[in-house]
Amino acid sequence: MKEKFNALVVREKDGIVNHAIEEITSDMLSEGNVVVEVHYSSVNYKDMLAVQTKGGVIRDYPMIPGIDLSGKVVSCENGEFKPGQEVLVTGFQTGMTHTGGYSEYVRVPAEWVLPLPEGLSLREAMVIGTAGFTAALSIMSLEANGMSADKDQEILVTGASGGVGSVAVQLLKASGYKNIHALARKEDEIPKLLSLGASHILLADETIPEKPRVLGKQRFHYILDVVGGKVASGLLPQIYYGGSMSMCGNAGGIKMETTVMPFILRGVNLLGIDSVNYPIQGRQAIWERFAGEWHIMSEAIVKDVNLDELTQVFDNIKAGKHMGRHVLKMK
Ligand SMILES: NC(=O)c1ccc[n+]([C@@H]2O[C@H](COP(=O)([O-])OP(=O)(O)OC[C@H]3O[C@@H](n4cnc5c(N)ncnc54)[C@H](OP(=O)(O)O)[C@@H]3O)[C@@H](O)[C@H]2O)c1
Repeated sequence: MKEKFNALVVREKDGIVNHAIEEITSDMLSEGNVVVEVHYSSVNYKDMLAVQTKGGVIRDYPMIPGIDLSGKVVSCENGEFKPGQEVLVTGFQTGMTHTGGYSEYVRVPAEWVLPLPEGLSLREAMVIGTAGFTAALSIMSLEANGMSADKDQEILVTGASGGVGSVAVQLLKASGYKNIHALARKEDEIPKLLSLGASHILLADETIPEKPRVLGKQRFHYILDVVGGKVASGLLPQIYYGGSMSMCGNAGGIKMETTVMPFILRGVNLLGIDSVNYPIQGRQAIWERFAGEWHIMSEAIVKDVNLDELTQVFDNIKAGKHMGRHVLKMK
């Protein structure tokens, strides 16, 4: 491990949060029994929030953000991982209360670390990252509630241009789903969404009513929602009898306006998704799928960036000007 190395550090002064690249030493890293040399990280919506004033992600400053990372083990106190072994970490407290992946090195508890599955590169793991892992959890939850590629079902992915949504469209396509609707806000995103595997593009202003109806025309059997807010509120009354909507995000707001009617008259299910504290025991099998049947990420929506380009990426995510995934190259 180098004595001095670079990290993106978020600091707070007089209630204002700022971030900058700093040369730091290992004293600044949070405690943990595994030291990892970070090769790649990624940029998620939550990482953008982490560098904002009142972003709600970081509680104590200074902090190094970056909720995802992949790299090689430098040392492991309990012997569970070997030096040089390729590993990945997503979620738990990484980049929130525990110094995260926007650093040349991290120190994390072994209980957060997964061996990189064979067939997946360190970079590919970060193309997927928390966004892709969350898309996978959403699909698994919808499938546990009856979504099936063998049935003729209408499926909708909201926020389809973003990290979670763009991976979800690709995973659904790879899983054999045919009627994949993608909800978008910008017409210029349509060609890329079609290339990812969406069969129909729906524009948000034509699909989401200004005020949600109590019950609307039944259009979708299963909805994978990442937007929340007005979008999720407007879609619940459009779900077929017995259908489900998974809900993982709040990019469009945290408040929902709904009635009990879709639930008590149509038996609609609302399925909460959390990737952060998803048990480590269940994670390996999902990452194995990313190395196998789901080894399909399109490079068309991936951009590689360096540490000094992160500020621009955060600004673009905040302004809704980005598409797909950003991979941070640390080595
Ligand atoms: N529960 C979990 O464990 C978990 C894990 C990962 C992410 N998340 C959450 O999931 C959400 C998405 O994350 P992400 O990384 O995919 O973010 P992202 O890349 O910024 O994507 C957000 C998407 O939402 C769309 N959107 C935003 N506001 C909208 C609105 N008012 N109406 C319609 N569409 C809107 C954006 O569309 P445009 O391109 O048109 O702007 C974009 O496609 C975030 O809230 C994030 O915190 C939760």
